[in-house]
Amino acid sequence: MIVGRPFLTVDQIQKKVRDLADSISTDYGNKNLLAVGILKGAFVFYSDLVRMIRVPLMVDFILASSYVKSNTSGEVKVMHDITADVTDKDVLLVEDIVDTGITLNYIRERMLMKEPRSLRICTFLDKKERREVEVPLDYVGYSIPNEFVVGYGLDYDNKFRNLPYISVFKKRT
Ligand code: IMP
Ligand code: MG
Repeated sequence: MIVGRPFLTVDQIQKKVRDLADSISTDYGNKNLLAVGILKGAFVFYSDLVRMIRVPLMVDFILASSYVKSNTSGEVKVMHDITADVTDKDVLLVEDIVDTGITLNYIRERMLMKEPRSLRICTFLDKKERREVEVPLDYVGYSIPNEFVVGYGLDYDNKFRNLPYISVFKKRT
């Protein structure tokens, strides 16, 4: 197995995170921001993003994983949910990558049932071509082609999350 050269470099990543944080800071100036990181994948992006946001915020996390049972359907399991009451909060879900959209759609609907004051979604990467379920994305870092990527929190078999850049992952056959 090999991990190739950077597909997105540390500099490209940091610049984009700054742009996203600037937009969020502008939009959430007078709000009651609760930034909810979706673990595990978003942990690196999330920690960079919140440190560049210049308005007050609270943090919380959801630990979820999805199991693809067939080609067309997936099941999402939430192992840890947020603890805060969200009825007076402007929730921002922070995700690493949206692929089929199944995971985020499930988490979004689950969050909507808790009736937050508002709900928006920020994802660092968007693999549009792969979408099976439409999910409204408010802040997107990079739209990428249909390649499997690792690094910057993204894994293959729970490995490579600690790579500081994003690389296309290829299996050596
Ligand atoms: P979904 O298909 O949109 O539900 O995405 C489910 C999850 O699959 C994402 O949150 C990621 O954890 C993972 N995933 C999707 N594409 C990639 C990838 O290219 N690299 C690493 N993980 C991925
Ligand atoms: Mg994820």
